[in-house]
Amino acid sequence: MYDVVVIGSGPGGYIAAIRAAQLDMKVACVERYPTFGGTCLNVGCIPSKALLESSERFVEANEKFEAHGIDIGEVSLNFGQMQNHKEEVVSGLVNGVKYLFDKNEVDGIHGWGRIADENTVEVTDDDGEVQQTLETKNIIIATGSKPLELPGAEFDKECIVDSTGALEFEDVPDHLVVIGAGVIGLELGSVYSRLGADVTVLEYMPEILGGRMDSDVARQAQRIFKKQGLEFVLEAEVTGAEVDDGTVVTTYNHDGEEKTIESDKLLVGIGRRPFTDNLGLENIGLETNDGGFIEVNDHFETDVDGVYAIGDVIPGPMLAHLAEHEGVVCVERINGIAGHVNYDAVPDVVYTHPELASVGKTEAELKEAGVDYKVGKFPYKANGRARAIGDTEGFTKILADAETDEILGAHIIGNQAGDLIAELAVAMEFASSSEDIARSSHAHPTLAEIVKEAALDVSDRTLNL
Ligand code: FAD
Ligand code: NAI
Repeated sequence: MYDVVVIGSGPGGYIAAIRAAQLDMKVACVERYPTFGGTCLNVGCIPSKALLESSERFVEANEKFEAHGIDIGEVSLNFGQMQNHKEEVVSGLVNGVKYLFDKNEVDGIHGWGRIADENTVEVTDDDGEVQQTLETKNIIIATGSKPLELPGAEFDKECIVDSTGALEFEDVPDHLVVIGAGVIGLELGSVYSRLGADVTVLEYMPEILGGRMDSDVARQAQRIFKKQGLEFVLEAEVTGAEVDDGTVVTTYNHDGEEKTIESDKLLVGIGRRPFTDNLGLENIGLETNDGGFIEVNDHFETDVDGVYAIGDVIPGPMLAHLAEHEGVVCVERINGIAGHVNYDAVPDVVYTHPELASVGKTEAELKEAGVDYKVGKFPYKANGRARAIGDTEGFTKILADAETDEILGAHIIGNQAGDLIAELAVAMEFASSSEDIARSSHAHPTLAEIVKEAALDVSDRTLNL
């Protein structure tokens, strides 16, 4: 009898399994794919970041070394090797999860996990034949999400692809059309634009990233991406796409007219849906909500005793580090350890260049909630390290309560924004004030000084501007 069976080995599931093992639980983690690590390690965060890093190096070699006095002559692209590098990074990390399971004595089992009842998970093959039956006291559902398909523009996996397909192109397309100026569209659109493709992004909303980032950041990001070569058609509703002899013809409504655009590849990045196929939820009478998500309470308990859910399959942002955090808290609660997830202090990063990073409330959200706030802002161009790097676009913006000075939100666009936001997430977790950051020593010369100066600006006392 297991103490807990985790279904799904993404960042939510594998981390929950390891934490459970640390707490002396007997634990199994069932994964339907041949490797562990879920969307994030296999077809998500990691391969996309490998291609983002490599393609950015290509841009640096082509456009940025010269200013640093490094002449390297003509630069050429070896896309096959770039893809090999990505594969090596992925295989190293998925093998790392297997190693961690062995080290922590987690039983990693391959097959579909199907819930037979509250205390039984059947492991089946792809045909639904039961291979193994696991008895357990608790079940954690961590089955993640899948790309949404746009009706009328169904994936053919050749010309019309999801993010997984776009990570696996064998050649750089001449023209890539992307549906959705969300995170996937901007990250993968950037990769192929950097490598020489013409990239056109069709977005339904009037702004990129649909309110996910502070508008100041989204607007500046759009200007920068445009300079980099990405073309945006906003307020464009895509209604369908057809493939004709290797050319994709995408139809969209824009400015009151129906228009078409041709490309050799179409990436559909319009969001993801929770994945509960073949999970056997009907066997325990557990229903999903209208969006297909499994509802849980603050302790990640579903409506069925002993059955929990975490990660992309529950409502909320779809982020790997959030899934991990939920996995840890869920297992600790099962063991009677106090804990919760503070959703206001979860950072969100878009790994374009420059990076975009956010934690807490946006200015629009504070306005809508009628909160009185102060703003502190500091530009990269006034920072010595940013100048030495030669990358001075962007700023940090801190929003603090007008009365208490508590930090309510922070937003960064610029080099290493994803790392800089960590300090502000920790600050928010500890309910810090902007004064706390302003009075803390930040090493010189670092980009982190931009955060300190933005905190000083909340009370109008920047020192270097
Ligand atoms: P998943 O990682 O989706 O894992 C679920 C696992 O469960 C899968 O392996 C699946 O095969 C398995 N499974 C499903 N059903 C069953 C079953 N019945 N039996 C057995 N196994 C089953 N997030 C970030 O924070 N940062 C990023 O940079 C980032 N980049 C991304 C880039 C891309 C291209 C994509 C697509 C996503 C990205 N994400 C990123 C989102 C991130 O990948 C997800 O939020 C995260 O993987 C969710 O973790 P999870 O454990 O809930 O689910
Ligand atoms: P998304 O929700 O971020 O963006 C989808 C975009 O598509 C929206 O802006 C929406 O308005 C637009 N759209 C929808 N239907 C449309 C239509 N018919 N025509 C035109 N535009 C349309 O979803 P995305 O980019 O697919 O990402 C999925 C999830 O994966 C996100 O929730 C994200 O959290 C996660 N992810 C996270 C990353 C990160 O943390 N860096 C990187 C990549 C993905």
